[in-house]
Amino acid sequence: MAASRGSIHGEWSGRLMFVLAAIGSAVGLGNIWKFPYLAGQHGGGVFVLIYLAAVAVIGVPIMIAEIMIGRRGRGSPINSLRTLAVAEGRSARWGWLGGMGVATGFLILSYYSVIGGWTVAYALRTASGTFAQASSEAVSAAFNAFVGSPAALASWHTAFTLMTMFVVARGVRGGLERAARYMVPALFFILLLLVGFAAASGSFADGFTFLFAPDFARVSGAAILAALGQAFFSLSLGMGAIMAYGAYLPRNVSIAPAALQVAVADTVVALLAGLAIFPVIFANGLDPSVQSVALAFIALPLAFGQMPGGTVFGTLFFVLLVFAAWTSAISIIEPAVAHLVERWGMTRRRASLWAGAGVWLLGLGSVLSFNRWSEYTWFGRTFFEVVDFATSNVMLPLGGLLIALYAGWVMRREASADELALSPAGYATWRNVIRYLTPFAMLLVLLQVSGALRWLG
Ligand code: PHE
Repeated sequence: MAASRGSIHGEWSGRLMFVLAAIGSAVGLGNIWKFPYLAGQHGGGVFVLIYLAAVAVIGVPIMIAEIMIGRRGRGSPINSLRTLAVAEGRSARWGWLGGMGVATGFLILSYYSVIGGWTVAYALRTASGTFAQASSEAVSAAFNAFVGSPAALASWHTAFTLMTMFVVARGVRGGLERAARYMVPALFFILLLLVGFAAASGSFADGFTFLFAPDFARVSGAAILAALGQAFFSLSLGMGAIMAYGAYLPRNVSIAPAALQVAVADTVVALLAGLAIFPVIFANGLDPSVQSVALAFIALPLAFGQMPGGTVFGTLFFVLLVFAAWTSAISIIEPAVAHLVERWGMTRRRASLWAGAGVWLLGLGSVLSFNRWSEYTWFGRTFFEVVDFATSNVMLPLGGLLIALYAGWVMRREASADELALSPAGYATWRNVIRYLTPFAMLLVLLQVSGALRWLG
């Protein structure tokens, strides 16, 4: 690969912008309430420890692999995987792995943008004081009426899809980079304000204990596998989002330290989100172990509504969710847009239009699954739940397994060593982990999902 060759899609203006954009991708709906919720369910501090190990053992090595493949291939994940495989004398069919990522992205964004729409709607509702002093019944009723209305959900889903595609259409520098430049720092700032609010007016000690006190009786196979799966989703791995972002990384940036920074930032946000949410829940005597959707859209509006300053801080919480979801959404669809540009010679605008239209249409299925189609289930799951389950529990881990095998076994040592430019010991560690440990761990996740490991509990 010629050192000077860039990507036809553009390039980040530097190391910092790549790191911010990748953090924007990683920090999403998954961090802000799913992580705290899972931690609470699976033994608090113990889960947090297992999660940290999962980020280190699977997350960071795969993130390094994705960025490396992207930067060496310089194209959409489909093209990068194909051209690098051919260069190694392997099958061009490795491009299909990128194709699976593009399909996974379509599926994820279709429901992600429905929930993204809720966050926008709730930011506006909270700001207008809808939940101030509202009763528990009123907040629940408002949520049920909202998700019960196909028109309301479809409108907000449309709005969120448009917001996403608007950014993507503007390209790497003018769109993705600009969004990350403002929204990611704002996100950290808001989160710190919320933690401050929780410390000042919530039951901080109770929240802290709930999240961090290790309850070793709750360590189980299920907790370990939940931590592995969550680490993976939260770091945006397994579908080529980070690979696409890696394709726009300038040659002179070291990959491993950047990946480490993204992983640390993502983890810090997840932990801080727990410290912002649980003290507020406990201060209002609410149940912290409710389902994740209800936690964010029922318990939190209710809790904030009872507190002085709650309208302002409640609104900030939903604005935080909007920023988190938005900067993730643009990365979920980027591989598809890059592919349409490469394969069909479309302009970025046209590619964004088509990708957005596809996502929008598919998302209507999720919209309807909360109301008209709520009775139609498949193995007890609605359309929305099927898509969520299939992508996060099957397609992403499978993609991660194949990416690890590709980076460790398809790419030759010379190629990956050249791209990573690590110390000999650092490189040897990464290579052994990506060849053996990571595939093994991903296989465990897939087996657990398929029910083969049910005995683990
Ligand atoms: N990491 C994002 C979150 O935590 C979701 C995501 C998954 C983004 C896959 C990109 C790719 O919400």
